[in-house]
Amino acid sequence: MDIALDLGSSRTRLFIDKKGKVLDEASVAAYNVMTNRIIAVGDEAYAMIGKTPDSISAEFPIENGVIAQSALVEDMVHILMKHICTSKIVMPRVVASIPGDVTEVEKRAVVNAISAFGVRRVYLIENTKVAAMGAGLDIMGPHGTMIANLGAGTSSAAILSLGGIAESKFIKTGGNNMDDEIVKYMKREYSLVIGEPMAEKCKAAIGDLSEEDDEEVFRVKGRDAIGGLPRFVDVKSGEIKKVIMDTAMEIVTMIKDVIENAPPELVGDIYEDGITLTGGLAKLRGFAKLIADNTGIRVTVAKDPEDSVILGCGEAIRYITEVEKNKKNDINPLMAAY
Ligand SMILES: Nc1ncnc2c1ncn2[C@@H]1O[C@H](COP(=O)(O)OP(=O)(O)OP(=O)(O)O)[C@@H](O)[C@H]1O
Ligand SMILES: [Mg+2]
Repeated sequence: MDIALDLGSSRTRLFIDKKGKVLDEASVAAYNVMTNRIIAVGDEAYAMIGKTPDSISAEFPIENGVIAQSALVEDMVHILMKHICTSKIVMPRVVASIPGDVTEVEKRAVVNAISAFGVRRVYLIENTKVAAMGAGLDIMGPHGTMIANLGAGTSSAAILSLGGIAESKFIKTGGNNMDDEIVKYMKREYSLVIGEPMAEKCKAAIGDLSEEDDEEVFRVKGRDAIGGLPRFVDVKSGEIKKVIMDTAMEIVTMIKDVIENAPPELVGDIYEDGITLTGGLAKLRGFAKLIADNTGIRVTVAKDPEDSVILGCGEAIRYITEVEKNKKNDINPLMAAY
């Protein structure tokens, strides 16, 4: 059995060969702080955030695309993999995506977290490559293809050709930064204390980077910063746009940097084919247009962009056989086997 794994800062997704995506849960682990015993993982643990007693902590153990708390990630992966691997007799091979620019130590941490489950082998592959594959783009030909994967804790952009990365950039900025800005704004402007999950809901409901002026309203619920009592504020989409714009522009700049540094022949291809956006943040309204306006290049959002990485990892499974047979193929997109 072969499995694909996307360990994201906000969500973990699993894919089984020939079946497709079989699991999509929050990358959260809740544990007893005295005994370190895991209480819940995934969506069940996410529901506990901000509601735990002192004895329990619910945390996102992957920060900005890299493992911040290895023991928690190991337990989380183990429990989630157990959900989908009913038979322990066959040790699976795993293809896992990693952000660009990670260190050897960070790569090792991913491999160790997965290996603890008892797997035959782990193959790593860069996020941007699998995002493009999952979005249905051909990355193997002698042709430039541009992808920008916009997630919760990371954003990356790359120009791919012949199964490799011709130019790329990775920043530790994503949807989480926008949520943090919303939390700070509510406190500063309205003395309303809210948690990140509420800020994320607000962003998804009325977040819009476009110039349209039809104002939408969202009721943000929280606690009064002074009195401490529950309170709500109705915020408008125009306010949220101002609050999240700086983060959006940081991502736009990253995309522009990749285009500016790429070989001219490949840039010609990009001008013709456009840029494809993947990752959950690609669903933020107006983002594609903002990128198009700032680069002068057409921008398309992949179908179900949050699933592109896991679908691409699933597709990359078929390259394992080539690697294992030691076939001489210099354009195999898989990076390394552990
Ligand atoms: N409809 C939407 N509108 C705006 N933002 C959205 C929407 N849906 C998801 N998001 C945002 O997309 C982000 C999650 O994207 P994704 O699932 O690709 O991240 P991830 O893979 O967990 O993180 P990373 O790849 O950065 O480690 C979150 O910030 C989430 O709030
Ligand atoms: Mg991701």
